[in-house]
Amino acid sequence: MINVAIMGHGVVGSGVAEILIFHPDRMEKSVKTPVNVKYILDLRDFDDLPYSDKFIKDFNIILQDDEVKVVAEVMGGVNPAYDFVKRCLLAGKSVVTSNKELVAVKGAELIRIAKEKNVNFLFEASVGGGIPVLRPMVQCLAANEITEISGILNGTTNYILNKMIVDNMDFASALKLAGEKGYAEKDPTADIEGHDACRKICILAALAFGKHVYPDQVKTEGITDITLEDMEAADAFGCVIKLIGHAKKLPGGKITATVRPTLVSRDHILSGVNGVFNAIFITGDQTGDVMFYGKGAGKEATASAVVADMLDCIKHLNARKYLDWEDGVADYVDNQNDQPQRFFIRLCSKELSAPTQEVKTLFGNSCFVKNEDRGEILLLTDPQPESEINRKAEALRAYGEVKILHTML
Ligand code: HSE
Repeated sequence: MINVAIMGHGVVGSGVAEILIFHPDRMEKSVKTPVNVKYILDLRDFDDLPYSDKFIKDFNIILQDDEVKVVAEVMGGVNPAYDFVKRCLLAGKSVVTSNKELVAVKGAELIRIAKEKNVNFLFEASVGGGIPVLRPMVQCLAANEITEISGILNGTTNYILNKMIVDNMDFASALKLAGEKGYAEKDPTADIEGHDACRKICILAALAFGKHVYPDQVKTEGITDITLEDMEAADAFGCVIKLIGHAKKLPGGKITATVRPTLVSRDHILSGVNGVFNAIFITGDQTGDVMFYGKGAGKEATASAVVADMLDCIKHLNARKYLDWEDGVADYVDNQNDQPQRFFIRLCSKELSAPTQEVKTLFGNSCFVKNEDRGEILLLTDPQPESEINRKAEALRAYGEVKILHTML
């Protein structure tokens, strides 16, 4: 029998406990020995649960129990998760986590400690919820040089954008619903401001390209400024707006890493990824594009990935899985590169004839739509450097409000 512990009994933690405790046969079949949840750490009381006898409030009980070989950290946040995880690893216990903030901020250090102690530190659930993506990327795509990653990495924002456009729901109601469904973070600012997707692109880029990417190195924008009008405007060009995380290798060894609302053509497979679903495109030099798709948030899907990692740790108690990367460096991420891209511009103005002339002068034959009723000019530019777009958009600001979005076109 193997003893394990769970730190945290929130949305994901309760899912982990339920899978392990209510499906013992599945666990035993996988690891050829019974898996016993010895402790669940949480400061709250859960007296009515059938497994209420397992709850403890003191972390040291887990730390000092040598029978506990594998610990799941599903508390979220950096503190005290970082301290607890570090001490478990130093004590020779393998740790798995769904905590993307912890991995994005402290991953390189925790991986190094796990290596030194010959234990595992696994975090499949930290990206894409229930989607197997990290392990397949490292193992199944090992023959490739990975050159680019892009995808929908946050279930909450994807759910909100979808509810706004399909059900005409307002932003606040859609966010509330995402919270009720257990998709949103405790502080949903992390979802809607793009920080959650940022942490996930950090983890993907670190694993794919080999160096830690810190959240503050990623150019991050959320969806709080995206309105229904923007989405309807995108539709005029056959596009939807998605929050896209993107990372790419640059010649010379640096990378770019961004998270931002992006126009995606309705012909692109990502445009059909809706609700809580996530999809991650990974480009390998041998495979070309490979897409990973599934539920990116929620209790059961995320718990599924945590439990799978726990089982993997049990199967590899005396061997290390190779999911690692080196420390990051200050100038590794270069978001200043100014490759020509197509941009979407929405100009709102009471009077459209003068700005129409200006648009023609500035953007030549770029595709544009004039909507007199709504007082807006919508523009899909030819590929141009971002610096050039910003300069031209400045001239348009003389006529009204201007919104610029990136595109995947
Ligand atoms: N809040 C996250 C999301 C949970 O909505 O994707 C899964 O990481």
